[in-house]
Amino acid sequence: MQVAIDGPASAGKSTVAKIIAQKLSFVYIDTGAMYRACTVIARNHHLDYGDEEGILKAIDEDGIELRSEDGKQKVYSAGKDISLEIRTPEISANVSQVSALPRVREKMVSLQRKMAGEMNVIMDGRDIGTTVLPNAEVKIFLVASPRSRAERRLLDFKERGIETNQTVEEIEADIAARDYKDSHRKVSPLKKAADATEIDTTHLSIDQVVEQILAEIKKSE
Ligand code: C5P
Repeated sequence: MQVAIDGPASAGKSTVAKIIAQKLSFVYIDTGAMYRACTVIARNHHLDYGDEEGILKAIDEDGIELRSEDGKQKVYSAGKDISLEIRTPEISANVSQVSALPRVREKMVSLQRKMAGEMNVIMDGRDIGTTVLPNAEVKIFLVASPRSRAERRLLDFKERGIETNQTVEEIEADIAARDYKDSHRKVSPLKKAADATEIDTTHLSIDQVVEQILAEIKKSE
């Protein structure tokens, strides 16, 4: 079984995907974390975020590994835990440039398909239903108002212990800029798959979203 969850930034994809993965004993794959890791690698190697060749080489050197530790998702690269670093505003501001590089996407998509392999997976991102797992049995497209997404992101920073002096308005503007770039890139832009079910999470609790997705999974069995 493959469950694809796509949607714009901070619509609640990873929160619900993690809960569903735990409930159904599926493997959860956070593809955004992979593009964020590519961006951290580019920065650590002092590369220009448009330097496709250099970034590909650096990814090969450092590697990207998603691990589950005590029920928590961790990202490792070059032997270091970079789980917090990938969430900083600096990385968020530059990840769309790196994720638009066609050969970087090619590399990540092939890793993602390999990870999906023969296991039951729930994968979240921007192009899972359209490109990575086009035959996924369940495809969900999560949306929410820009303000509620900015509020959630601020809460997420607090919970992760990431300090920020950004206001909710500034975060909303950053999210809108990232969504614009992600929706307008040439290679597999953020887009609802024709056969995806759209859920607007603005006025829904986490439990309500989880219930709706579980119902979709049940329908497809
Ligand atoms: O999901 P998250 O906000 O962590 O994703 C970070 C960025 O990674 C997105 O803004 C997008 O540029 C990129 N991304 C992507 N394709 C995916 C997942 C994420 O291009 N499947």
